[in-house]
Amino acid sequence: MAESGKKSLPIPFLAGPRVSLQPQSETDITVAVPRINDPEVRHYARATYPVTMEARKKQLADVGDISQKSDSIPFAIWLNAEERVIGDCSINNISWTDRNAWVGLGIGDKTMWGQGIAVEAGTLLLDYAFGELNLHKIIAGIFMPNKRSQGAARKGGLECIGILHDHVFVDGHFIDSCIFEMFRDEWLSQKDARGKLLEGILPS
Ligand SMILES: CC(C)(COP(=O)(O)OP(=O)(O)OC[C@H]1O[C@@H](n2cnc3c(N)ncnc32)[C@H](O)[C@@H]1OP(=O)(O)O)[C@@H](O)C(=O)NCCC(=O)NCCS
Repeated sequence: MAESGKKSLPIPFLAGPRVSLQPQSETDITVAVPRINDPEVRHYARATYPVTMEARKKQLADVGDISQKSDSIPFAIWLNAEERVIGDCSINNISWTDRNAWVGLGIGDKTMWGQGIAVEAGTLLLDYAFGELNLHKIIAGIFMPNKRSQGAARKGGLECIGILHDHVFVDGHFIDSCIFEMFRDEWLSQKDARGKLLEGILPS
């Protein structure tokens, strides 16, 4: 609590106009676990098996000391105006030698879909990956039917560079998976456009 008695706002680790990315805590997991078990949310998010609170807490503990060179960096996505967690995103399988990594993102609060939140949170994640971690390439695997996620990836500057055919088994069928990539050079050359993208997201 602040000295005034007012509730202190969390200081954002990565701040955007509408959302910020914060370190994940056990409280966030309490909110996130019921959502990731929601069929509509987990459908294309590779959450094929039920996720328990205990498993997520262990996963968080296993990430270890992220001030060191972890190979996975998870974030909670905070809705600034309402001071609550609406999703999560992460940089995974970081190869510090090859300077590449995979990214994942999910908005568990379905009421927030279709408002450009994934693009804003994804932009913060990419700015961190390229601008602070000095990574060379970011990769994302997105199932072919997940048009919303593909739209967000394209809008964030990633490009589909290839398709893994019959790669995953969903709803009784093998479906294709699209591999998206973005290189540091592309991120640098799109910097101005990204600024405008975030400006456009700002409420008028
Ligand atoms: C996929 C997900 C992250 C997208 O989040 P979101 O905040 O709704 O996405 P955005 O509003 O930022 O959408 C981004 C863009 O996608 C595109 N888009 C949205 N819905 C679309 C659809 N049905 N078809 C095609 N494109 C679509 C649009 O270009 C949109 O931008 P615009 O409407 O501002 O022009 C969210 O729906 C989610 O968490 N789903 C469940 C988990 C999941 O699938 N995670 C991704 C695993 S790869």
